[in-house]
Amino acid sequence: MTATERVLHEWRNRVVAEYTSAAYTAQALHWIIQVALPEGLQDTAVRIVGDELAHARLSYDCLLALGGEHLPVALEQERLAMPGPSEGLLPALVDTIVRNFCFGETFAVPLFAEMRRRTTHPAARPVLDRVLRDEAVHRQFGWDALDALLALDPDGVRARVVAKVPRWRDSFHRAYGEVPEGPPLLPEEEAMGLLPLDEYVRIHDATWRDDLVPRFTRRGIAP
Ligand SMILES: [Fe+2]
Ligand SMILES: [Fe+2]
Repeated sequence: MTATERVLHEWRNRVVAEYTSAAYTAQALHWIIQVALPEGLQDTAVRIVGDELAHARLSYDCLLALGGEHLPVALEQERLAMPGPSEGLLPALVDTIVRNFCFGETFAVPLFAEMRRRTTHPAARPVLDRVLRDEAVHRQFGWDALDALLALDPDGVRARVVAKVPRWRDSFHRAYGEVPEGPPLLPEEEAMGLLPLDEYVRIHDATWRDDLVPRFTRRGIAP
């Protein structure tokens, strides 16, 4: 079966998302070097930039293999960076670590795990195998980096995260937690790596409750 437009659009969006992750991580790496976070975190951030570029390339290869060469992959330079450090370098670094890693990667791990479980198409499956292997490392990096930032400035960092968690929570909730209308997925679409929308909602809610809330609470950041 040829891929539906819905499948091709999803893989095109994944190319953009992975490339954007590479850019955000490269920016975070620069700030991590400026702030001089511990060496182990610097090394992992270097690795993650490479992982995300590889995920973008593999997703693009999958898009082509599924017949999506006609779809433009639009990358906008201004969307490939988090807002600069107007309030200072440390707050900017806290924002990118918590939003993109503590939130983004903690949601990504169970979502990709469920996606991969359903994916059988030979163009899609190896991409999800690789992504899933890496994302657990990225998630751990996020929480370790937050701990390092808390050690640098416990009160300031905790206050900033407490203040901003509701906003980040809402934006991830809008992205994953609300089901837009649409016809159900075909089995072939799931085999090519698409996840039903009600699974996004289920996994989002469970991950927030059972993973993110306890991790924040342990750090004195009760959401
Ligand atoms: Fe990735
Ligand atoms: Fe990642």
